[in-house]
Amino acid sequence: MKHLIPECEALKARLPQGFESTLVLPCLRRVQEERGYVADGDIDALAQYLGVPRVQIEEVLSFYTQFRRQPIGRWHLQACHNVSCSLRGAGSLLDRLRERLGIEPGQTTPDGRFTLSTVECLGSCGTAPVLVVNEVYHESMTPEKLDALLEGLE
Ligand code: FES
Repeated sequence: MKHLIPECEALKARLPQGFESTLVLPCLRRVQEERGYVADGDIDALAQYLGVPRVQIEEVLSFYTQFRRQPIGRWHLQACHNVSCSLRGAGSLLDRLRERLGIEPGQTTPDGRFTLSTVECLGSCGTAPVLVVNEVYHESMTPEKLDALLEGLE
């Protein structure tokens, strides 16, 4: 967190005094971009830096499901299981992912390569079903496309 302080200071300089708590979200995003997840120590450091209660940061972390509190695999597979994707085969894709990876949603493969998550609507219902791998959308997925995709992930 320490090395991100200059960036946070630049953001802080753009705010009126007393609005430091609005920096919780962008600072947490930067921490996660750097580390891959938000550790307990990051929360303590950010609470101290911004002068906000720790619980306020934990509230943000628990509200936004994009934040992770644990390390994840090199490839983070996020399978949408909301209505449009479910109607267009998300369940079969998820079954295929479970079978191929040998893990359940919320788990990481023992070799640390893959983490599987289920997520709510990814805003791409017109091209359902959707799978996001790290930050990249894979749309109109089929089991065959999924197999090809997994083969290309080292
Ligand atoms: S329901 Fe899956 S992207 Fe909207």
